[in-house]
Amino acid sequence: MIVLGLSGAVNHDASAALYIDGKLVAAAEEERFLRDKHAKGKMPYEATKFCLEQAGITPEQIDIVAFPYAEIGLKSPARWHYAKRHWYAPDRALTALFSGNRRYWRNHRNVMKLLDDLGIGSKRVKFVPVEHHLAHASSAYHLSGFKEKTAIIGIDGKGEYATTFFGYGENGKIHKIKEFYDPDSLGGLYGALTEFLGFEMLDGEFKVMGMAPYGNPKRFDFSRLIDYKNGDFKVNTKLVNVVGTRRFKKNGKGYFFSPALIDWLGPMREGDEKDEPFIDYAASIQDLLEKTALKLIDYYLGDIIRETGKIAYAGGVALNVKLNQRIIAMPGVKELFVQPASSDAGTAIGAASYASQLAGVPVEKMAHA
Ligand SMILES: [Fe+2]
Repeated sequence: MIVLGLSGAVNHDASAALYIDGKLVAAAEEERFLRDKHAKGKMPYEATKFCLEQAGITPEQIDIVAFPYAEIGLKSPARWHYAKRHWYAPDRALTALFSGNRRYWRNHRNVMKLLDDLGIGSKRVKFVPVEHHLAHASSAYHLSGFKEKTAIIGIDGKGEYATTFFGYGENGKIHKIKEFYDPDSLGGLYGALTEFLGFEMLDGEFKVMGMAPYGNPKRFDFSRLIDYKNGDFKVNTKLVNVVGTRRFKKNGKGYFFSPALIDWLGPMREGDEKDEPFIDYAASIQDLLEKTALKLIDYYLGDIIRETGKIAYAGGVALNVKLNQRIIAMPGVKELFVQPASSDAGTAIGAASYASQLAGVPVEKMAHA
């Protein structure tokens, strides 16, 4: 059985991955072929062609196409949460409630066009949309090779609406325990500070992580950015993870933080010259990320971790190796599998592995990448 996974649903990191009978035979990011970092706004045409060529198969041989973006129904709390938390931007709130799957259908059209353009045939193949965070979860759990009950963590900016996923895998099945929804996003918060520190969101986060050890996390109190209580957290949208008119704007560009953040911390960092006080801000946001993530992981997954010690982890924040060190050091943790392609590029693999498992063909352990 041949499953093609395609990513590109969230406007960046388009990629393709190909499973043949549970074996990952090829995976590639579109940016490598276009020589355009993150391939923003692109669909994975070249990456798909590469996968087919690498596998030596023709487009008509593909049975299933899996895509890491799904429709989110009104029964899910996701759209309601988004609407409620964006009350200050009524246009966004109402769009989430009344046409919350607009992006899904735009994606759907783009995928169908790609399938027809490349001769795969949109009408012929079975199309399997997979929730973004289930794709991340599958890319971690199903590829970990763990046989025991496994705690699953997914933390990123956001997929459809979900930003954070806690669940477990058992006997090849993924079970959700808890999801958090936009704007309550740890990845989004870290990304907003990444912008404030003069880097590009969804690109420069690793630079912030690299700056952090040079700074003092105690000099500024960043706790006002997150309200954490009994396993619940809310990001302070007066300061970060903002949309619309609440955004700080400069030279025609809108940022994911508000003018109130500038009032508090001073002007954003520009150029490469200044270190102070920005290294301390980097240290503070890294510290806040680590503390919040560890509390949430312990709250939702502590029992499973103490039972088997196995964790599988994916999503953009899983590339934060400093946080990962702290997770490994948690009591009871025996083995942490982090999907190497934890950015959204890896959701092509995850969607395909999920669809393969669903069709009754278990996927192989990822032994190297
Ligand atoms: Fe993601």
